[in-house]
Amino acid sequence: MPFLVRAQGVPACPGADNDFMGIFARKKYTAAVVGLGRIGFSLGMDAKREQPASHTMALMANRSIEIIAGADCDVHRADEWKSFMESKRRAPAVFYSTKELYGSVHPDIVVVAVNEASHLGECLDAIQSRPSLVILEKPVALDTAEAMKIRAAASEFSVPVMVNHERRFSADYIAARDFLPRIGEIQRVRAELDSGLRVYAPQFEKDGSYSLIHDGTHLVDIVRFLLGVELSSPRVTGIFRDKDGIVRNFTAHYATSRIPDIEISMSGRSKFFSFGIDILGTLGRICIGNGYAKFYERRESRLYTGFYSLSNAKIRVPKKTGYFSNMVQNAVDFLSARAPLVSPLDEAIADLRVLEEIKAQLK
Ligand SMILES: NC(=O)c1ccc[n+]([C@@H]2O[C@H](COP(=O)([O-])OP(=O)(O)OC[C@H]3O[C@@H](n4cnc5c(N)ncnc54)[C@H](O)[C@@H]3O)[C@@H](O)[C@H]2O)c1
Repeated sequence: MPFLVRAQGVPACPGADNDFMGIFARKKYTAAVVGLGRIGFSLGMDAKREQPASHTMALMANRSIEIIAGADCDVHRADEWKSFMESKRRAPAVFYSTKELYGSVHPDIVVVAVNEASHLGECLDAIQSRPSLVILEKPVALDTAEAMKIRAAASEFSVPVMVNHERRFSADYIAARDFLPRIGEIQRVRAELDSGLRVYAPQFEKDGSYSLIHDGTHLVDIVRFLLGVELSSPRVTGIFRDKDGIVRNFTAHYATSRIPDIEISMSGRSKFFSFGIDILGTLGRICIGNGYAKFYERRESRLYTGFYSLSNAKIRVPKKTGYFSNMVQNAVDFLSARAPLVSPLDEAIADLRVLEEIKAQLK
């Protein structure tokens, strides 16, 4: 049993999950990965991605964690994972169902990295096995009704849940958040996600295979995280449907008392993948997205006497963003009473609500 230390004097992030902070502090935590697909395992072997890029690799890289088990209902994937772990001289137990897993081992951390349609069932099972922490892949669930069931179970069994909205942990986005006060009052925000995946149609709600929820959860989450705003009552324009009636484009407009103009745009007919946010302040600008982070501030113009222009600000952003390893470290720090959860369940449910308000206008 872990020895118990109550968190004291550490400010908590919003979210009931932080009420449980630190009650399971100890040196080494055991972990199980449920879902040994791309994010659970194989993205960790993508040579182009910043590593670690999967739960398996990120957990393995953390010295405070020992992976004791993995499960996947796909026998081949489970066996492939087993061989890989053995090649790294690890010998976790491997299961083809989570029922077997929870019947055999009791890890401190359970990572739920299954497909969206199984989030509810697998997350409830994980919570009911009473680990010290569940790390749940995004989006929380297929809709807020399911998400609220997860929340109710987490509360009933006193199991904190964090959601892997990875940009919250990424050094470039953290630098952007720190830089925000230097750009003055925020005049407008443009957040945009472009891909080839359909944005929305009702027939895809059953498995979440549409980008509004699949990737849109990241876009909404990072806008809320960076700006500290609640987004509600959008005006949705620019809706484009393809010949099958599937939504391929939209822009949602928001105005808050602090920021008068926030736009969230998505395209599902682009022949490329792009994710980015452009924040214009009265004294500077931040442009950040996949593969870039640019910080500008007002300086005396080199081009015109008596004018000011925007120039590159001297900001140090480490080459390695640590987006995955920082997430795992936050889990360890939380369990050790050193930090609150940076991405608690309630924050991810709030993202889902924003997406559902948009969805209501796309129907
Ligand atoms: N945070 C991120 O940036 C990021 C990136 C990719 C995927 N994801 C999310 O991770 C989740 C998984 O996506 P993926 O791309 O890895 O999918 P995937 O299909 O590659 O892997 C999912 C795995 O879960 C297994 N599985 C499904 N239901 C199961 C069950 N009930 N019990 C045991 N195993 C089960 C499947 O067999 C499969 O191997 C999705 O929710 C996705 O949105 C997040």
